[in-house]
Amino acid sequence: MTYQNIILEHAEPGIYVLTVNRPKALNALNAATLAELADATARVAEDPAARVLLVTGAGDKAFVAGADISAMQPMSTLEARAFSEQGSRVMSGIEALPIPVIALVNGYALGGGCELAMACDWIIAAEQAVFGQPEVNLGIPPGFGGTQRLARLLGRARAMELVITGRQMKADEALRSGLANHVVPGGQLMEKGLEMARLIAAKAPVAVRVLKQAVQRGLDLDLASGCVLETSLFALAFGTADRKEGMTAFLEKRSPKFEGK
Ligand code: CAA
Repeated sequence: MTYQNIILEHAEPGIYVLTVNRPKALNALNAATLAELADATARVAEDPAARVLLVTGAGDKAFVAGADISAMQPMSTLEARAFSEQGSRVMSGIEALPIPVIALVNGYALGGGCELAMACDWIIAAEQAVFGQPEVNLGIPPGFGGTQRLARLLGRARAMELVITGRQMKADEALRSGLANHVVPGGQLMEKGLEMARLIAAKAPVAVRVLKQAVQRGLDLDLASGCVLETSLFALAFGTADRKEGMTAFLEKRSPKFEGK
């Protein structure tokens, strides 16, 4: 598939950068853009050498300003349902990638944009980033998982207030409320993302994958079942050559050289 609305770059070994690229519409998500996102997600998933995916928006104004309102405006109920299902599938696909996915939120992350950022494993925001679920102002709820992921990330009361008032939340509030992990000056966003991606790419790949699984899957389990899952994943990672290398390197007081085996 050739992309018209996104850019997928292999920025450095193991590090992919996916940019939503419709700056004239503030990177709004229409069906074609969602289809391209699904394709790009599959391509990254199929690359065994992939270590980290960074997701961002083109231009200096928006990460993604939401689902495309001009595309939605004439939709029938059934078409809207299919659009919501498509968007939800794309968000779940990004969330399910076996490698860490970091959102670099460079501007407005509203509606479907906030949902895209929340489908990533964590968020680094530029100082000018703005988050929110303003769908209520259009007479609809979020449709790409926003009510569900926001409540899980911020808790019931904060999420309820945000979706019902539709108000915008600036980067400093996103940081305080735990939605964003870091806030950096806009000009430093990509560098900060790449810096973190390089750090992750240098870790033992199997350990990173099992860590993502342990935290993600464990959150859906009770504590005892989550600890059983952790033990299985611990044993799985223990069987890797990288585990031997990591422990031997520690004992030999040198840096480990991980190979993903
Ligand atoms: N869909 C389609 N086009 C959009 C868009 C969107 N979500 N957001 C912005 N645009 C377009 C505008 O229509 C405008 O196009 P034209 O130049 O052709 O008129 C262009 O992008 C620039 O936008 P503005 O002139 O509005 O820029 P601004 O700086 O004045 O305002 C903004 C920026 C506050 C982000 C404002 O654009 C805005 O409120 N956008 C809509 C945000 C929104 O409601 N998002 C939720 C969408 S619904 C959704 O996402 C549902 C879901 O979960 C599935």
